[in-house]
Amino acid sequence: MSHSGRCILEVRNVVKVFPPRPGRTDALLAIQDLSFTVGEGEFLTLVGPSGAGKSTLLNIIAQIDTPSAGEIWFQGRPIATAFGNALRPGWDCQIGYVTQDDNLLPWRNLLDNVLFPLRVQRRLSAESVERAKMLLKATGLEGFERYYPHELSGGMRKRASLIRTLVYDPPVILMDEPFGAVDAQTRSQLQADLLRLWNLGRKTIVFVTHDIAEAVALADRTLVLTRAPAGLAGEHLIEIPRPRDLGNIYTLRGFAELYERIRRQIQ
Ligand SMILES: Nc1ncnc2c1ncn2[C@@H]1O[C@H](COP(=O)(O)OP(=O)(O)OP(=O)(O)O)[C@@H](O)[C@H]1O
Ligand SMILES: [Mg+2]
Repeated sequence: MSHSGRCILEVRNVVKVFPPRPGRTDALLAIQDLSFTVGEGEFLTLVGPSGAGKSTLLNIIAQIDTPSAGEIWFQGRPIATAFGNALRPGWDCQIGYVTQDDNLLPWRNLLDNVLFPLRVQRRLSAESVERAKMLLKATGLEGFERYYPHELSGGMRKRASLIRTLVYDPPVILMDEPFGAVDAQTRSQLQADLLRLWNLGRKTIVFVTHDIAEAVALADRTLVLTRAPAGLAGEHLIEIPRPRDLGNIYTLRGFAELYERIRRQIQ
């Protein structure tokens, strides 16, 4: 699998089998011999049907779960293997994970939510507070720092959980359908925010979605996953120039063709 730049993350022949549920005999093969690499600073999107094993894969990369076979390599060394040592979720702050739910703490205001992981790790500094405020400003959340999650809209909460991960500053960020539950308008706003923030820091991003348009609009490269068990159905370099006008993504040159190629591959 090709990408430009240095490889930061590698999924090597990963297999995931979930054991049978109590009283059943059928184990579930969720991922079958999946391999790909991710380049430093790359925006990689993974698109695949529901139940394909996408979240399972991100959980394995984030060390919330273990592979049944195969390995995850990070910066040139294995960090997860089938017979490996204890799990280290987030790999010592090196891998950030934006899950589908925003997971904000209801009893903490926006700013405290965004700073929470740093506070827990005793890494909070004047500099990180400044950075948080800069990011809040960049996404239109300035003035809402003292608001509690229930006083914010769904889109604002999504932005907050994005910023919480960015402030924490991991080199790799995993995102699992982070914009799934918002309306179309808010969604393209959030996508634009994400691209702007990515451009500021050039993190490596692995972004899971089942929305083909979203996968193409955001990515440097898109991998298409097969139905469960997840394997690789295809790889597409997205050479649409940046910055991209996400409001008019359907009219951008090359978009329609890519969209169609990926759609056919998913079926
Ligand atoms: N902890 C678990 N124990 C048993 N089976 C599981 C577990 N987690 C996931 N599965 C199964 O593995 C398969 C893949 O699930 P996964 O959540 O990875 O899919 P997904 O591609 O993220 O789907 P979606 O797009 O709907 O989020 C599903 O059949 C699911 O039921
Ligand atoms: Mg999922």
